[in-house]
Amino acid sequence: MSYIEIKNIYKIFGPHPKKALKMAQNGENKDNILAKTGHTVGLQNVSLSIEQGETFVVMGLSGSGKSTLIRHLNRLIDPTAGEILFGGENILQMTTARLNAFRRAKLGMVFQRFGLLPHRSVIDNVAYGLEIQRTDKAERLKSARTWIERVGLAGYEDSFPDQLSGGMQQRVGLARALTTDPEVLLMDEAFSALDPLIRSDMQDELMKLQSELHKTIIFITHDLDEALKLGDRIAILKDGALIQVGRPEEIVMNPADDYVRAFTRDVNRSKVLRAKTLMRPTGASDDVTTANTTGWPEIDSNMRLEDILPIAIACPYGISVIDHDHQKIGTLSKDQVIAALAA
Ligand SMILES: Nc1ncnc2c1ncn2[C@@H]1O[C@H](COP(=O)(O)OP(=O)(O)O)[C@@H](O)[C@H]1O
Ligand SMILES: [Mg+2]
Repeated sequence: MSYIEIKNIYKIFGPHPKKALKMAQNGENKDNILAKTGHTVGLQNVSLSIEQGETFVVMGLSGSGKSTLIRHLNRLIDPTAGEILFGGENILQMTTARLNAFRRAKLGMVFQRFGLLPHRSVIDNVAYGLEIQRTDKAERLKSARTWIERVGLAGYEDSFPDQLSGGMQQRVGLARALTTDPEVLLMDEAFSALDPLIRSDMQDELMKLQSELHKTIIFITHDLDEALKLGDRIAILKDGALIQVGRPEEIVMNPADDYVRAFTRDVNRSKVLRAKTLMRPTGASDDVTTANTTGWPEIDSNMRLEDILPIAIACPYGISVIDHDHQKIGTLSKDQVIAALAA
């Protein structure tokens, strides 16, 4: 069983969801259900398994159900039908006391509009979660100071939110979410309000932190480039239904339908495709590793096409692909690299 299990969730918005639910369960689409019942389908039979330590991105156009999905995970809303398990525990059956404890101990949230308390300094905003947990003052300030430093804001402890840029405010938001050491970070369009360069910095910052912290991150975005950059896996929603779940390469190489294809059409493939996806594996029928590969450049199997290209162009023969143990696991030819770019 995965760390988070979302099982056949339906969410119908409206006063009498029963009939609309039946229709949704019979596979009727969102537009028809709205026309016939006046009820909005927020989610339609969504099932997902999310592993501990992965960065799981949920992507889709505005109105596709992303926020509705993430709000189920902290039970800001409850499903019309379906189950949600965290570490095997059904969160829909939690008592209010258990739910509050669960939220405080396990979940950290980062919002699009930062959600900082305007009359509190940076350090008091960051320490807020620990204050709620009644951690003593010296300890919570010490912890807050550590996280402020880790997100690159040392020196701004006593500033107030409105004295900071958007990017800095979101760093405070991130530090605040991390100070209570949650297992799960819920981030709903957390970077969507930021300017492109700042946004890219925040993505890098999050990836750096994640490589050290290994949190389970559920990250919502409507931006495929952001999804491909951050996600270990990506789920794509349309009209409340799950269209595809996969690794970035899978989404780009094998879009499940025209909706996903429309998203992926303009993607820079060279930033997504990696050596291990493109290579001829050692031992395959068209394997060339029996050829003399001495003198071939060696590249890491995780290297991306954009970094492989200059190597491929400069080398007259082939490239050896090696794994993290420095074992050769495949080969790449210049033609293959160019074909991958052109496809
Ligand atoms: N509280 C609500 N009441 C009625 N309809 C809602 C509510 N919240 C969301 N919806 C509807 O559910 C669908 C999904 O919305 P949402 O999850 O906010 O999408 P996204 O976050 O992907 O933009 C939309 O059709 C939206 O209008
Ligand atoms: Mg939303």
